Amino acid sequence: MTILIEKYSAAQLDAVISLLSQAFVTNPLHVAAFGSERIDQNRLFFRIGLRHMFAGQAFVARVNGQVLGYVHFNASPYCLPAPEEIPTVAATVLKPLGEAIPNVINWFARWCHLDPDEPHVHLGPIGVAPGLQGRGVGTALMNRYIEHLKQEQSAGYLETDRPENVEFYQKFGFVVRHQEQLMGAPTWYMWRQRPEDHDALASPPKASG
Ligand SMILES: CC(C)(COP(=O)(O)OP(=O)(O)OC[C@H]1O[C@@H](n2cnc3c(N)ncnc32)[C@H](O)[C@@H]1OP(=O)(O)O)[C@@H](O)C(=O)NCCC(=O)NCCS
Repeated sequence: MTILIEKYSAAQLDAVISLLSQAFVTNPLHVAAFGSERIDQNRLFFRIGLRHMFAGQAFVARVNGQVLGYVHFNASPYCLPAPEEIPTVAATVLKPLGEAIPNVINWFARWCHLDPDEPHVHLGPIGVAPGLQGRGVGTALMNRYIEHLKQEQSAGYLETDRPENVEFYQKFGFVVRHQEQLMGAPTWYMWRQRPEDHDALASPPKASG
């Protein structure tokens, strides 16, 4: 299996909407916000995200030529809309989501509130087509993100709602900073120290004398 990581281009919009909506439709926060099996609402949500919100860097994973994975990351402090911008966002870009709008606002208002003040590069979303999960595509996308953190000497930050993802991110040096129930869904907030600080912690203490 050949996994190729390349920059996302707008021509891949439909393929990415399909893979992300299928990847996330059973995630607890998405079920809490949109209801279960709401592929339609997840498709709308990701279409809005890709067109209006995911303004940082994005990469896709091609497997045997097909676009089957996506990752987006963005430098703080622009990683989420400011709390005061949320009503305007709701009345404009979020409008197609209809009855789910209050849930989406609750969700992102909370994430905005907890977003760290320290400089960081915010990860999300990252998703792999369900049929291909567990075969290294997510790792390849994460490696691209970690490479960026190292280039920029930046800390990393993310939110997640699945315990198996917590373990996945721990493999890349993230630690849980906070955990809570959000709209009834378990949510973990994870932080990765700046590479300099991270490497200093990882390396053995220098011998004295
Ligand atoms: C999380 C995700 C991006 C990981 O990508 P992936 O290609 O499945 O991951 P990899 O194959 O590189 O690594 C597998 C590891 O991821 C974790 N994992 C998380 N979800 C998994 C899943 N559905 N299937 C298999 N492994 C999963 C496991 O810890 C696994 O470790 P292991 O190989 O030691 O068992 C992907 O599973 C996914 O899209 N999940 C649904 C959407 C989602 O939750 N995205 C992240 C939101 S914060």
